[in-house]
Amino acid sequence: MDQRVISNIPEEYHVEEPIPASEPERQEFFIRLCRNYVETNRAQGRQLTYAIVTFGCQMNANDSDRMRGLLERIGYVEAPEKEADLVIFNTCTVRENANTRLYGHLGQLKPRKRENRNFMIGLCGCMMQEPSVVAKINASYAFVDFIFGTFNLHRLPEILFARLQENKRMIEVLPKPMEHVEIRGAKRKYAFKSGLNIMYGCNNFCTYCIVPYVRGRERSRIPEDILRDAGNLVADGVTEIMLLGQNVNSYGTNFITENQVFTSGQEIDIYKTSGILAENPDYGFPELLDDVCQIPGLVRVRFMTSHPKDLTDKLIRVIKKNPKVCRHIHLPVQSGSTEILRRMNRRYTKEQYLALVDRIRTELPEVSLTTDIMIGFPGETEEDFQDTLDVVRKAQYDQAYTFIYSRRTGTPAAEMEQVPEDVVKDRFDRLLALVTEISHKRCGRFEGQVMTALVEERSEQNPEYLTARMEYNLVVHFHGGDELIGKYVRVKLTETRGFYYTGELIEVL
Ligand code: 5AD
Ligand code: SF4
Repeated sequence: MDQRVISNIPEEYHVEEPIPASEPERQEFFIRLCRNYVETNRAQGRQLTYAIVTFGCQMNANDSDRMRGLLERIGYVEAPEKEADLVIFNTCTVRENANTRLYGHLGQLKPRKRENRNFMIGLCGCMMQEPSVVAKINASYAFVDFIFGTFNLHRLPEILFARLQENKRMIEVLPKPMEHVEIRGAKRKYAFKSGLNIMYGCNNFCTYCIVPYVRGRERSRIPEDILRDAGNLVADGVTEIMLLGQNVNSYGTNFITENQVFTSGQEIDIYKTSGILAENPDYGFPELLDDVCQIPGLVRVRFMTSHPKDLTDKLIRVIKKNPKVCRHIHLPVQSGSTEILRRMNRRYTKEQYLALVDRIRTELPEVSLTTDIMIGFPGETEEDFQDTLDVVRKAQYDQAYTFIYSRRTGTPAAEMEQVPEDVVKDRFDRLLALVTEISHKRCGRFEGQVMTALVEERSEQNPEYLTARMEYNLVVHFHGGDELIGKYVRVKLTETRGFYYTGELIEVL
């Protein structure tokens, strides 16, 4: 895809001290400068507030937590979107409807510029990596204050400061990761659980998918950095960690080191900084998962997402021997038709996928399997669709996220012949009926049993109930006090209600 750097971040700021050239000192410097601005407002009786609106996947949620950490260090206080002085949209572009939702949201915000002279809007995330989107925002949403992309999150304080000083719109979108900079001090939504990036980007180039273009090539973090972060999270009260990557099973193919300038074609001598890799050059995801499980105080480990083409038997063995690894595997199938899978560039067949499901179920009989399925990929016939239904029946998913194929400009599938909308809609409805029927049956399999669950929050639908999550990623609602939030409990699953249970508290662990 054609990408370009758009930047009007001024080189020189009107500041007295020299600006540090390297990170993370530069980030810290601009946090301090922005803090002056927030403190000046506070001295005048006005506490500035922010909200981050997150679209899309776990990666974005994790990035948003890091941005919240940065803004809190600047002195901003979190507030509901409707009241905040600064609203940042962390966008997703995996399907067209995510883009449409952003434009809808932006339209509604315009009047707030008139009502509040401090009001600012920032845009970031995957959608901003598309030059056509930035061009459209420039042309039609001129009230947006600043834009940045997925490769320069750590520059938020600098971009914010530049916007405040120059009083004009700031845009900085990098076409690829120029350097890798960690952000300290993320603000998590939950005190007791956290995502942890083990890698960035994706190299798979599934033909429908825009992610490799907007998140760049696959980059794995060295094990020492991940284990250090995991240890710090546990020291900070976290008991459940979800290891995150677009395809965790290919962890270890390309390593990065912290602050290492990353230019294509440049060989990075990772062995100088990683003793673990020096000792074991074949270190991959199974080894990492095993090592993370050894961290004392950590109770649960999850991971997301697995590509079926490289989920190995070694990984299944590591899961089996480590009770800390939650019995839940998200294994996106996308389609059950070998021909469609070939055209999607998924690199497995229907039979290989089902054989993998069998191996997983033999070794981990109690496991919950979930998946992503796409309907209406170009050229999909009724026969292909029947193959998808067949896989759904055989794999017996606990949950399946179903999507209508969305044409993404710049991807190979966008050039292929599209399936008519009414045909797609009809197939989608039939698929949804089947996955719902199966998942209701599957999810009810523990009815009447007593299970361990981690209490996450008060239920949004019914505040009398607490919501707790079992390792199988199934949720139970039961009566209890706020003091239980963050604790592991034993709950009797009295009744199944489709996707969740209602239950009774038996014991606090
Ligand atoms: N259209 C519809 N769904 C898509 N996904 C990825 N790209 C597209 C697209 N162009 C789905 C896949 C993936 C999930 C995160 O989003 O099913 O697994
Ligand atoms: Fe997209 Fe495929 Fe990479 Fe997943 S594995 S992010 S679907 S290209």
